[in-house]
Amino acid sequence: METFLIPQADTIPASWGWFQFLLLLTFPLHLLAMNAMLGGLVIGVMQHINGGELQKRLAHRVAIATPLLIALVVNLGVAPFLFLQVLYGQFIYTSSILMGLFWILVIPVLILAYSGGYLYDFKFAGLGRFGIVVGGLCCLAFLAIAAMFSNNMLLMVSPGKFSEYFASMNGTMLLTDSIQFWPRYLHMVVSALAIGGLAVALLGRFQAERDLNLADHATALGLRTFWILTLVNIPVGALFLMSLPKEQMMLFMGRDMGATVAFGIGLLLTLGAVVTGIRRKLWLTIMHVVLLVYVMVFMRAWLRSDYLRQHFTLDQLELVPQYSPMIFFFATLGLGVICLVWLWRTTAKAMA
Ligand code: HEM
Repeated sequence: METFLIPQADTIPASWGWFQFLLLLTFPLHLLAMNAMLGGLVIGVMQHINGGELQKRLAHRVAIATPLLIALVVNLGVAPFLFLQVLYGQFIYTSSILMGLFWILVIPVLILAYSGGYLYDFKFAGLGRFGIVVGGLCCLAFLAIAAMFSNNMLLMVSPGKFSEYFASMNGTMLLTDSIQFWPRYLHMVVSALAIGGLAVALLGRFQAERDLNLADHATALGLRTFWILTLVNIPVGALFLMSLPKEQMMLFMGRDMGATVAFGIGLLLTLGAVVTGIRRKLWLTIMHVVLLVYVMVFMRAWLRSDYLRQHFTLDQLELVPQYSPMIFFFATLGLGVICLVWLWRTTAKAMA
């Protein structure tokens, strides 16, 4: 029953390793940007609620950064989405249809949140305390979108659930009653809030020349938020691990040596990040966190392929070689990166 609901996989034009490499390279960038956007905005709105002069100035700086971060999140989400479809199209398309009503809602909700982000930025002074409502609604919208993503990422690796569609054929399949959903989502959200703290601290660092008081306040608040929430995330992560089916949980506890080593490195990096955060070493903390997010994304990929192992492994994808699109892709990517570096330098010079 279940296997017949999994469509035939498409052929791939180059070895699957290329697509996996590109997926694992780009997805952490999406996550880091999403964390800065969501976590940063939550902290900004909390500062706005606090109401002091310095706090309000920080909330305004965060509001100014938000539309830019939304654009980054969306653009950095497209790349992994493409690679995910190539590798796991038969699962992600099916799960997207099964939860279609909610999945399609991501687009209007995102458009509304994006507009709200611009409103909060451009009309910050004019909105006064009402800005808190606007910023707060944007946070809720992002949290709802993140929940839809978590639902879809879990649903795509649960083909055993696909046949439940026949019980209610209206595209509203949510896994909120699954023991695996809430710890996974909570782990993502707490990480977002913690890394949002780092983003706020970084924002402060960039303000150092213009507004020293604001810079000090943002750095102290951001780093404190980071390390406290990272400590909170350790039990949350453990809960997530324990919520996994026993077989998948054991993957990180000796069943697979690579996954177990990655887990160990992840724990060491977490402790390292907390220590550097407490000691207020911003750049060192950022370095730990970027590495940590990459390691966690690797672990997530291990978990996904293990969930699907009985139905599908990536080496089953049929290779029909066609390398010219790939070469064209890398050439365009290279040109794009050169343009971005040029743009960054030109803007930095203009602002100096
Ligand atoms: C702006 C609001 C967004 C938020 C808050 C958000 C948040 C998230 C979260 C929390 C996950 C991880 C879910 C999990 O594994 O449990 C995720 C995954 C993902 N997001 Fe986003 N996302 C947003 C927008 C987008 C957009 C617009 C795209 C694409 C155009 C996108 C592409 C992806 C992809 C492809 C994944 C999964 C990658 C993988 O499993 O390897 N996201 N997102």
